[in-house]
Amino acid sequence: MMKIFLDTADVSEIKRCWKTGLIDGITTNPTLIRKSGRNHEEVYQEIKDIGLTDISMEVIGSKENMISEGKRLYKKFGKVATIKVPCTPDGLLACANLSTDGIRVNVTLVFSVAQAVLSAKAGAKYVSPFVGRVDDNSFGGLCLVKDIAKLYREQMVTTEVLAASLRGVRDAARAFEYGSDIVTMPPKVFDGMYNHVLTEK
Ligand code: E4P
Repeated sequence: MMKIFLDTADVSEIKRCWKTGLIDGITTNPTLIRKSGRNHEEVYQEIKDIGLTDISMEVIGSKENMISEGKRLYKKFGKVATIKVPCTPDGLLACANLSTDGIRVNVTLVFSVAQAVLSAKAGAKYVSPFVGRVDDNSFGGLCLVKDIAKLYREQMVTTEVLAASLRGVRDAARAFEYGSDIVTMPPKVFDGMYNHVLTEK
């Protein structure tokens, strides 16, 4: 039910938010890792040591690359590793291969219902529609979440909707209203979820 993931590779921020008892997982990507200025595997290890049990680790390159890197990361970090692949023909082939081996796969960079259909057929555990980036391009990011969630429900698909690229508290709450199973958000947005002017009063 309503899982909250943090979209960050900042270990001290993860530690701080983890203490609330309300965080269910972490999503990272190459940009977030670069921003942390750290080695990606050191970051994953520290996040695992904090106690997180679901960490999205993005792999890139050819299908073969994504498969071998995904398997290696799973071997190294075990069940906490969710392998994140892009919604491309190679990414979905890697998704099918890794999923068959019982590895959780998060298909990322999803911008359409059609892509969510293909991701589910490839055995994805999670599909990540990018709300903020869809909005940036003058389409409705939350509508995309709603459409995918509705379709998955109607088709009894077990792939979970993980709303990503969230920029604000209102969108985070709405993503759940629209049927997201998981919402990943920067720590700042998570902090903001507590706030209401009337509560303060
Ligand atoms: C998703 O899993 C990505 O890590 C992330 O949400 C992308 O967000 P951005 O559009 O802010 O880069």
